Amino acid sequence: MKYIMAFDAGTTSARTIIFDKKGNPVSVAQKELIKHFPKPGYVEEEPEDLWSKQIGTAVEAMSKKGIDPKDIAAIGITNQRETTIVWNKKTMEPVYNAIVWQCKRTTKYCEELKERGLEEKIKQKTGLVIDPYFSATKIRWILENVEGAREMANRGELLFGTVETYLIYKLTDGEVHITDYTNASRTMLFNIKEKRWDDELLEIFDIPRSMLPEIKNSSEVYGNSKSKYLGCEIPIASAIGDQQSSLFGTASFEKGMAKSTYGTGAFILMNTGDELIRSQNGLVSTIAWSINGKVKYALEGSIFEAGSCINFLRDNLRIIDQADDSEYMASKVKDTNDCYFIPAFTGLGAPYWDQYARGSIIGLTGSVNKYHIIRAALESIAYLSCDVVEAMQEDSMTKIKSLKVDGGVSKNNFLMQFLSDIVGVEVIRPKVIELTALGACYMAGLAVGFWKNIDEIRENNETEKCFEPKMKEEDRSKKMSRWHEAIKYSMNWAK
Ligand code: G3P
Repeated sequence: MKYIMAFDAGTTSARTIIFDKKGNPVSVAQKELIKHFPKPGYVEEEPEDLWSKQIGTAVEAMSKKGIDPKDIAAIGITNQRETTIVWNKKTMEPVYNAIVWQCKRTTKYCEELKERGLEEKIKQKTGLVIDPYFSATKIRWILENVEGAREMANRGELLFGTVETYLIYKLTDGEVHITDYTNASRTMLFNIKEKRWDDELLEIFDIPRSMLPEIKNSSEVYGNSKSKYLGCEIPIASAIGDQQSSLFGTASFEKGMAKSTYGTGAFILMNTGDELIRSQNGLVSTIAWSINGKVKYALEGSIFEAGSCINFLRDNLRIIDQADDSEYMASKVKDTNDCYFIPAFTGLGAPYWDQYARGSIIGLTGSVNKYHIIRAALESIAYLSCDVVEAMQEDSMTKIKSLKVDGGVSKNNFLMQFLSDIVGVEVIRPKVIELTALGACYMAGLAVGFWKNIDEIRENNETEKCFEPKMKEEDRSKKMSRWHEAIKYSMNWAK
């Protein structure tokens, strides 16, 4: 067996990457996903589209390089987390579209939960803050709003899953209904201390337990894909949320190591090892991964906009032609001319958690030009990252020595240098930036003996470029305090 196949079931695209033993991507295929925005703040995808494009990319990745499915030792799946699918157990038909993690339809209900004084209880049990981001309120919305769904769920006829659960159910023709600990920890139904579904939470959200998948390790054979899909039966040997997967993919195996993935949003995770750290500073506690029944924890700061902020410059303001141009354009000016860009298009995530915040550009004068705005947009990604890293350091009482970065936006050298300057740490960009898929690939490979242990994987990790902090502390703190002034104007805007 020569390869591991990783499914990267992301928010904007379905991708399949086939890796060799050295962790090098040998073949990649990608298809954009259809998105629906039925009302302001609502975001949906089609489960059938997620499934057919995922399989489509798998077949394409093999055929592109003439790879025989018999040479694939295992499939590992990594996925956009929290996105909620509910389907009919027998027919496998979804009863509603997938409600995407970005969807804000349950904002009001989340407010109600807070008014009922449930914030502390939910935080203690799940490690999460009350926000429409997580799955529980989305499942409840489906049960309350789709005709007949509540009755069917009560009769045990409906199943819930995040995207990896749904893909595995489909790959096995309904034989396997599982999730892993990382994905379970994003549902708001999982007790992070006791590591099991929580009955009291199920009662609060009024969700029948029979809908929930069984929770498994992130690295373990759950079953085989049916041969009709990929040409032969292949063991499905990993499921892991995409942000945890890239933590593993960056070889951040030790406590205190941190990574930041810059995709649609930016997700910063710090490995906290065996310790469940409860954040006092607006972060969430989450499961990093689970191998051989041993669970590791992480602290996470989820920033909702990163790549989407650059897309906004391209698609909405039309001041760049393509995302990559932002690097050159931002470097054309020496600063932002005291202009700040707050990318709160769908509210603010960590550490602010303001579902009513909206985007703004502040500090406009007659001498501000498009280059200043482009630069301000890129800088905002670094400021938000810095807010999260500072919260992380306080919560964990550990100084982060370096930050590993991955994801498409990490290719932007201007942004990576500014990030290093503003956070005041070394920023390390690895050679392989397909780290999300790589994490799931490693997990699957470990489960089937493709790699013997973590040390074999560690050897694969090579650095492409290091960015060292160059900014004076005085300038850094001036910029940060101006940023904190600016962001206040966006808060609560839509309340
Ligand atoms: O929590 C949401 C996250 O998992 C989505 O990641 O890379 O698909 O935007 P991405």
